[in-house]
Amino acid sequence: MEAHALTVRLTSAVDFPFLALLISGGHCLLALARGVSDFLLLGQSLDIAPGDMLDKVARRLSLMNHPECSAMSGGEALEHLAKQGNKLSFDLKPPMQRAKNCDFSFSGLQHVVDKLVMQKEKEEGREQGQLLSAAADIAAAVQHTVACHLARRTHRAILFCRQRDLLPQKDAVVVASGGVASNLYIRKALGVVMNATECTLLCPPPSLCTDNGIMIAWNGIERLRAGLGVLHETEGIRYEPKCPLGVDISRDVAEAAIKIPRLKMEI
Ligand code: KG4
Repeated sequence: MEAHALTVRLTSAVDFPFLALLISGGHCLLALARGVSDFLLLGQSLDIAPGDMLDKVARRLSLMNHPECSAMSGGEALEHLAKQGNKLSFDLKPPMQRAKNCDFSFSGLQHVVDKLVMQKEKEEGREQGQLLSAAADIAAAVQHTVACHLARRTHRAILFCRQRDLLPQKDAVVVASGGVASNLYIRKALGVVMNATECTLLCPPPSLCTDNGIMIAWNGIERLRAGLGVLHETEGIRYEPKCPLGVDISRDVAEAAIKIPRLKMEI
């Protein structure tokens, strides 16, 4: 996750502090990067990651049987199909609307979509595995709902960081990275928040932010340059399978309960 957050500095001159939104098949978090090894965790997914959810929805819609989508990942297939659909066909509610924090949730939405697909299969007289004529509308509605959820949490994170003087009041940088950040619709939704808050959105090129080898190597270079955590002896090192990212201040964020202004998500 640290490597994910820092990869942007491989291609752009981004100074600390900046806000990082990491959205992939396995992770979903908002963190403030204050230094190479200095992070504040503002919020994370309480269940599954957005990419995992999009992959499950795509599988449920059998998009691998769609001639235009068979070679795509679930998220890519939904983005592609959503262009042909109407996002207003189904009224899916963004998750956790009442919780004024920066945490995320995707499994509830996934179950709602599962039920919707089942209902459409009945209506259209299709078996599981057959393509639905409503698939593009479902893809558009799901993508829109996920984009709004990510955008609203990011909006709150910016306001929280500014309230605490953790980010500059103007021209702050927000970095979106991970496989899901390559979704152009999601980037546009984040763009609406950037306009409203006068922030700049940066997204490392997908070729970099999906290559763990490059990301970890860059993380090593950053640490070497900063003289942080680079050991010259391997003797006595203890390995841990999981390492939390920075200091978790998600409780402070929830306690601040910042109300975010409604933005028109006209994308
Ligand atoms: O960061 P990543 O390559 O790797 C891991 O999570 O391991 O992310 C992969 C995830 C998959 O769930 C995939 O469906 C999603 O990113 N993804 C997308 C798009 N391209 C890949 N999700 C939404 N829109 C896309 N265009």
